Amino acid sequence: MPNPTSRSYSIRLATVNDAPGCAAVNIAAWRSTYRGLIDDAALDNMDHEQLAERWHNRLMPANRAMFCFVAQLDPIAPTDPPHIVGYVLGGFSRRGELPFTGELLAIYLLPEHQGAGLGRRLFLRCVQEFRRRGIDSFLLFVLKANVAARKFYSAFHPDFEEESDVMIDGFTYRDVGYGWSNLDRFPAA
Ligand SMILES: CC(C)(COP(=O)(O)OP(=O)(O)OC[C@H]1O[C@@H](n2cnc3c(N)ncnc32)[C@H](O)[C@@H]1OP(=O)(O)O)[C@@H](O)C(=O)NCCC(=O)NCCS
Repeated sequence: MPNPTSRSYSIRLATVNDAPGCAAVNIAAWRSTYRGLIDDAALDNMDHEQLAERWHNRLMPANRAMFCFVAQLDPIAPTDPPHIVGYVLGGFSRRGELPFTGELLAIYLLPEHQGAGLGRRLFLRCVQEFRRRGIDSFLLFVLKANVAARKFYSAFHPDFEEESDVMIDGFTYRDVGYGWSNLDRFPAA
């Protein structure tokens, strides 16, 4: 298993070829993060082929409403295949009633690559892309029970915080929305 402290990572814009890698991260990160927080069946039933198809559609160049950056473990040998260890997905806010233009839709890392500063890099890369696209504010939603992720987001000092209910596979959970209305204060990615 790679040791996050001894290997370096690159962050780059995702392409449709990354769909299987993103689906694999999606499944592994959800299972390790949400086991015990959401219904087991929702996690057990995650299917790589189905998710890869969904990622393929998300990552099509025609889909300009969203963008995705992947974090990739730098290869040891030039012939090593790319190994995707995380992603951040951004787009327009799905909550028009709130005063934020953009939304950080998802940020996930494989468990063995968490806690080494990579999430921070992906988050700031997403903010940089919002700014490049003229999106001057954004929000995101996180399960209230996902305490570690809430601490991660709180470290970026959101200026908006609001709880609401969210439905996942027929079950209702509590989530927390965090918002940032001024992106000028973020350092460059
Ligand atoms: C959330 C996630 C993307 C953060 O990425 P990461 O690489 O683990 O976090 P970083 O190492 O970049 O941490 C950045 C800062 O966030 C804070 N932070 C991160 N995790 C924390 C934790 N568990 N407790 C307290 N603070 C934390 C720290 O201030 C840290 O700064 P430091 O290096 O000065 O301590 C990653 O842990 C992950 O994929 N988690 C599982 C999936 C998930 O919950 N995604 C969010 C769903 S809404």
